Amino acid sequence: MQYFRNHSLKPYNTFGLNVLARDFFQFGEPEELRKWLQEKQPLENIFVLGGGSNLLFTKDFDGTIVYPDFRGIEIVEEQGDDVLVRFAAGEEWDACVEWAVSKGLGGIENLSYIPGHAGAAAVQNIGAYGVEIGDVVEAVEGFMLEDGSLFRKTQTECAFDYRYSIFKGPLKNKLVVSGLVLRLKRKPVFSTGYGAVKERVESLGGESLRNIRKAIVDIRKEKLPEPEELGNAGSFFKNPVVDSSFFYQLQEKWPAIPGYVLPDKQKVKIPAGWLIERAGWKGRERGQAGVHKNQALVLVNLGRASGKEIEELAQQIQKDVYAQFGIRLHPEVNIL
Ligand code: EPU
Repeated sequence: MQYFRNHSLKPYNTFGLNVLARDFFQFGEPEELRKWLQEKQPLENIFVLGGGSNLLFTKDFDGTIVYPDFRGIEIVEEQGDDVLVRFAAGEEWDACVEWAVSKGLGGIENLSYIPGHAGAAAVQNIGAYGVEIGDVVEAVEGFMLEDGSLFRKTQTECAFDYRYSIFKGPLKNKLVVSGLVLRLKRKPVFSTGYGAVKERVESLGGESLRNIRKAIVDIRKEKLPEPEELGNAGSFFKNPVVDSSFFYQLQEKWPAIPGYVLPDKQKVKIPAGWLIERAGWKGRERGQAGVHKNQALVLVNLGRASGKEIEELAQQIQKDVYAQFGIRLHPEVNIL
């Protein structure tokens, strides 16, 4: 275990914000963390930090940060064509995808090049190009913060939904994920329904894990800024879901508005990027905070932004989108 007092979180958040954590504990082994949790005094204000790719710090963190830096990828079981693989929570998510593709195991190739660590990927139920990690989760494992006791939640217990899991709901801030077990496939079923992906995959020579991964990495590199060059946390807002009747009203006024009818047919998901662009914010700047020029859903740190500045930009965008469309945008990033 390593301990730091008043530790800068700049290297630990992809917005690149220079805030301080009062207490910072880093653990290399799950067992070490479990013991620490059992022995520590009750602590107020604990926050478990993953890759910091979905976080906006608006001030110094006056509490205890727990940083599980666990590594390791191992096959735990083979069941016919299914392979169960355990990924330690601290692994870079994209390294996990690369590992799976290199072993010929399908299921997560569409989730290529998403920043962050494996543990947070499950908490957040990351999704892209028609696939969510929740689709392939067998179980999520870790410890309760309260007393270090072990937990193991199955896919059903995780209650995955759009950018949601039980770890963001009733179990929020109550546990630390040590690893996840994914059910991957030796005979993958490819998901290339997303127009832009299909075209790229064709031009690379057709469907294969490697080609899908390459197509998606290329698309993401074109659209999304690299955090090392321009601090950001991917999509800042969730795509709003509205009643279909309301969507049809919007369509009368804005015939070009895109929307995906959800399976229940009662609701429609609208790309927040479109709403933000039509509200005039794409590529605009406000002090040191800005809206990305290629994807209006991504807010960026132009260099010296404070977290507050980015939060204020987000609030202004929410106001403008609401005034124009009557739709409330909800942040996807965690604001601390
Ligand atoms: N659009 C615009 N202007 C923009 C951006 C988007 O008009 O500036 C419209 C276009 O109609 C476009 C549509 O929005 O066709 C969808 O855009 P995109 O394919 O970029 O996807 P998204 O809905 O904006 C979501 C996820 C992304 C994920 C992509 C691809 C959320 C909040 N975001 O974005 O996830 O990579 O789909 O599947 O659901 C993330 O969560 O950080 C993230 C990047």
